[in-house]
Amino acid sequence: MLPLMANILGPGKVPLTLEINARRVEVSAEPRATLLEILRDHLDLTGTKNVCEMGECGACTVHLDGVARYACLTLAVEAVGRRVTTIEGLSSANGTLHPLQQAFVEKDGLQCGFCTPGQVMAAAALLAENPSPSHDEIRAAMAGNICRCGAYPKIFEAVAEAAARMKSARQD
Ligand code: FES
Ligand code: FES
Repeated sequence: MLPLMANILGPGKVPLTLEINARRVEVSAEPRATLLEILRDHLDLTGTKNVCEMGECGACTVHLDGVARYACLTLAVEAVGRRVTTIEGLSSANGTLHPLQQAFVEKDGLQCGFCTPGQVMAAAALLAENPSPSHDEIRAAMAGNICRCGAYPKIFEAVAEAAARMKSARQD
């Protein structure tokens, strides 16, 4: 007979308390569940995309304690006690777009848009660490995010534009 807790949660599931986009959420999931599964299938945070599930495309990029991570290669249990930020948490509470989101729109940094949330999250982690990256540094930092539409020149332009605007906002 299964223990009582397993009966409540479902066989093989464990309770997890996570901090996602500055909100505490509680889910029950198998220990092998990835953060990507929890975000998309349990919490309906579908801005984080699922493409390869193998750490090869970057579509699932989120932040863990401010650092870019592939959610498909991160177990949900690894995120316990850490801050998870997804694309849904990047804009401000009043809906104002993050400067990167704004720059991607204005610079046409996308075509189909499927890779865009991951691109934006990778770029946000870059700018948090290096507020004035060179073109080569942008290219290097974004190398783990594949765009099948080949929108790279505009993506890099958008990241550079956002960096410049954020720098100017800090100086105001
Ligand atoms: Fe995670 Fe491709 S879905 S890297
Ligand atoms: Fe289509 Fe990047 S805009 S995959």
